[in-house]
Amino acid sequence: MDALTLLHERNSMGKLMAPAPDAEQMEALYQAALRAPDHAELTPWRFIEFTGAGLERLGELFAKAERTKSPAGDEAAQASAAKKPLRAPMVVAVIAKVTPEHPKVPRVEQVVSAGCAAHAMLYAAQAQGLGGMWRTGGYAFDATVHAGLGMEEHDELVGFLYLGTPGGRLKPLASRVSADFVERWQ
Ligand SMILES: Cc1cc2nc3c(=O)[nH]c(=O)nc-3n(C[C@H](O)[C@H](O)[C@H](O)COP(=O)(O)O)c2cc1C
Repeated sequence: MDALTLLHERNSMGKLMAPAPDAEQMEALYQAALRAPDHAELTPWRFIEFTGAGLERLGELFAKAERTKSPAGDEAAQASAAKKPLRAPMVVAVIAKVTPEHPKVPRVEQVVSAGCAAHAMLYAAQAQGLGGMWRTGGYAFDATVHAGLGMEEHDELVGFLYLGTPGGRLKPLASRVSADFVERWQ
């Protein structure tokens, strides 16, 4: 697939099955991520890859976040939280490692750079016939989850990339008209 076709036809796949991407495929995703635009070469990126028992540990962390939020305990909510990461054979947490008060690179640029890294990973997945879906949900912004993932005070969790073998059909893509979004000053 040529580069422009890939850019024009990226499509999220929420239904994901085993097998998970292999190490070589994941290396291609990480190399794509590591080419994200990066002002002042701060490399503000951290990736945590979850598979197998790691997915269960992540689910436990989500359940702990639920318990912390409502100590009286909604057991159904905890059980549902614990199952969330099991929707794919692999999840990658993409974290912006933010250098606070950098003289040239404000926080937003560092977070956007990590977002670009996540986006590049989705393209690299699709280019290899893999399926991917970027999710956040409340857990990406939850202090219990942040602590459990060893995030530092200024870090931001830009998303969880759910990755695997496509388990369904890709949806038809909405056609969008660039003129609706583009203004030209000439
Ligand atoms: C930062 C971010 C967070 C997202 N979080 C969720 C989410 O938690 N749940 C969800 O169903 N979709 C989420 N999405 C949207 C999907 O990843 C996807 O973009 C959407 O379903 C549209 O499909 P498309 O990417 O093929 O256009 C998120 C997207 C972004 C950029």
